[in-house]
Amino acid sequence: MSFLRRRAAVGVAAGALLAGVAVFGSTLTTAQAAGSTLREAAADEGGRFYGVAVNDSMLSNSQYANLVAQEFSSVTAENVMKWETIQPSQGQFNWSGGDRLVNFAQQNNQKVYGHTLVWHSQMPGWLENGNFSAAQLRQITNNHISQVVGRYAGDIERWDVVNEAFNEDGTRRQNKWQQTIGDGYIAEAFRAANAADPSAKLFINDYNVEGINSKSTGMYNLVRSLLDQGVPIHGVGLQTHLILGQVPSSLQQNIQRFADLGLEVVLTEIDIRMQMPSDSSKLQQQANDFRAVTQACLAVSRCTGMTVWGLRDGDSWVPDVFQGYGAPLLFTDSYQKKPAYDAVLSALGGGATTGGTTTNGGTTTNGGTTTNGGTTTNGGTTTNGGTTTNGGTTGGNQGCTATVSQVNQWPGGAQYEIRVTAGSSSISGWSVSFQLRSGETVTQSWNAQLSGSGTITATNVSYNGNVGAGQTTTAGFLTNQGGSHSVSGVSCSA
Ligand code: G3I
Repeated sequence: MSFLRRRAAVGVAAGALLAGVAVFGSTLTTAQAAGSTLREAAADEGGRFYGVAVNDSMLSNSQYANLVAQEFSSVTAENVMKWETIQPSQGQFNWSGGDRLVNFAQQNNQKVYGHTLVWHSQMPGWLENGNFSAAQLRQITNNHISQVVGRYAGDIERWDVVNEAFNEDGTRRQNKWQQTIGDGYIAEAFRAANAADPSAKLFINDYNVEGINSKSTGMYNLVRSLLDQGVPIHGVGLQTHLILGQVPSSLQQNIQRFADLGLEVVLTEIDIRMQMPSDSSKLQQQANDFRAVTQACLAVSRCTGMTVWGLRDGDSWVPDVFQGYGAPLLFTDSYQKKPAYDAVLSALGGGATTGGTTTNGGTTTNGGTTTNGGTTTNGGTTTNGGTTTNGGTTGGNQGCTATVSQVNQWPGGAQYEIRVTAGSSSISGWSVSFQLRSGETVTQSWNAQLSGSGTITATNVSYNGNVGAGQTTTAGFLTNQGGSHSVSGVSCSA
């Protein structure tokens, strides 16, 4: 029986645990215009959730708790469900923080995203320093998973079963489980979680895996092989701890390639940090970045939710770890919405319209028409993002542009990169034609299908045909000749 059902059975009012915040259920019933909060706007986008990582010690602050309840449809425990907190001594479980969060979520009609079961960080000392055989560690881990997942069975919809299992080059991180049990530990952890709650959706989660790169490809190859082995894995979490102005251009394509395996994708820990102090142009850039992240998820139907890693800037882990950086979240320390909040709400199709027409988000003031985000003030038409002020038109299908450039060479071979950038409209397929020097032939390619000799045509593959307006996707190929090179006649069509 799940933790919540057990509590109900013994007649303990869930709200009693949350002195001072038991009003949340009624807060949510006050009239809100459709799509005026992140949770409503995300729900209108194919039933997605928009979540937040909750700092347990702030739940007793009514302003904090009210905002979490009002704006978010999912909560993740920032720390209190980690091994260090939940099983601080071997065999002794501390459920207080986890129970508090699950109760809170239940009262406020929120999902709970479980974080996390197997992770090299925040291990209790007895586990970190214990000298266990493979059989012992396997038993300890299975017991932890079955206790924790079992307690919240039916109450926690998704779990990060394994967290941060990869090195930057895509190889396995040498954590305690990898060193003691070996490669099989990941499959074993998923099987244990599935046995404890067959209804929970089980995720593997990591950072620096948002774009297509060595690490995300390592993760991709692993989940493919887990699926081939019949391991119960249902989703991939892309943490999405980003730096201002550095949203990976291949974010959407990366989400798509995991989705194409039949998996859910969730952006699990979004924050976008900037060098402090912040200023209005950095905050505007941050809004653009949050918009791009939101749009990348919305473009893929199996990207089912997004979670920001903390409520207010001051709640964030960032300044403690990245000296000089901060302000990575959607709310200020005084609970005010930042431009990034408005950008996310508008990208989700929520937000305000004063006169005129707004389709798919954006903000329209004093007439005009906004389609697919962007901001229109005093008339004019904005299509696919951008800003139009005092009339004028931005948009139209500009197709795409492309570059083909050599990025490496060696005796007998060279590597090239193809970069395709969508014009002012998004595109749903592309092909790039070009010529290599005589005698130079393609031996291998990735992220594109190459055909022809003389004139070579590279076309998108299943997961990277959709490119957002102004966004770039990359592909590559190898040839049989190093040394001098010439690429000519490059053209792009969408
Ligand atoms: O609870 C103790 C407290 O008793 C003690 O007095 C205090 C003194 O330092 O430390 C407190 O623990 C801190 C804990 O957060 C709870 O506040 C730890 O020092 C601190 O290291 C810990 O940081 C957390 C970090 O994970 C640990 O690695 C951050 O809050 C949390 O945001 C961060 O979250 C991780 C995700 O789980 C995984 N992905 C990356 C993300 C950011 O690092």
